[in-house]
Amino acid sequence: MTTTLSPIDSAKRAVADQASTLIASGMKIGLGTGSTATFLVKFLGERVRSGGLDIVCVPTSSATAALAREEGIRLATLDEAGWLDLTIDGADEFDPDFNLIKGAGGALLLEKIVASASDRMIVIVDASKQVETLGAFPLPVEVLRFGMDATQALLQKVLATQDVDGHRIEPRCRNGKLFTTDEGNHILDLHLNRVGNARDLALALNQVPGVVENGLFIGMCDTIILGNVNGTVETILASRNRSEACDGKRAGGVRPAGAE
Ligand code: A5P
Repeated sequence: MTTTLSPIDSAKRAVADQASTLIASGMKIGLGTGSTATFLVKFLGERVRSGGLDIVCVPTSSATAALAREEGIRLATLDEAGWLDLTIDGADEFDPDFNLIKGAGGALLLEKIVASASDRMIVIVDASKQVETLGAFPLPVEVLRFGMDATQALLQKVLATQDVDGHRIEPRCRNGKLFTTDEGNHILDLHLNRVGNARDLALALNQVPGVVENGLFIGMCDTIILGNVNGTVETILASRNRSEACDGKRAGGVRPAGAE
């Protein structure tokens, strides 16, 4: 049966296709979460099953793990894999400095850990994710269940000190219940409208006890593969200056001594 994809889904499929060509046998790959990453996993599955690709992958969510298993892709935990050559993931927004908002699917914690333990992070997106300034998309913050209301109140105080245009915080719900992440935590969505200084905000949010991680990915991604609805695909590389400025700050790219 042939399914007709919407223009946005065609763009997501096209960027996933392009990204899959960067993966070669012998590589250890971090697999992102979400609808764009789903296309990637399917492309990789086809190549693995045809015998042309021998890779080990670390999934960033239970959903990606389940799909990858169905596709016949060999999986490992991050500790088993040690260090990854490349993580490929989607994003909810990216700005001209390649700062990202991630976590619409609730997998931001594992996504950040896996990307940080990779030499490179490549982001695959349709063009609707490109913004001048982050913040129109609500920023997910993963919090412990314990004392969640107190954590929310403290986050509200933090927002009052930050260069943002909105302060509303909403606990994420699904089917009338608090959304629970794979790690058993909850998500607070921060409706900020505009994030003036993403790096400062990311640091300030993570200072609040009870915050496990926030969905700002700063200086982690070096390449964006962008799909337009007219079917064209662009690969945008971080500028040389910016890459140099991020050396040492981007956990990915600084392979610890002894990591294999
Ligand atoms: C998952 O938690 C997210 O970070 C996704 O990577 C992000 O929401 C992009 O998802 P889509 O590819 O479905 O747009």
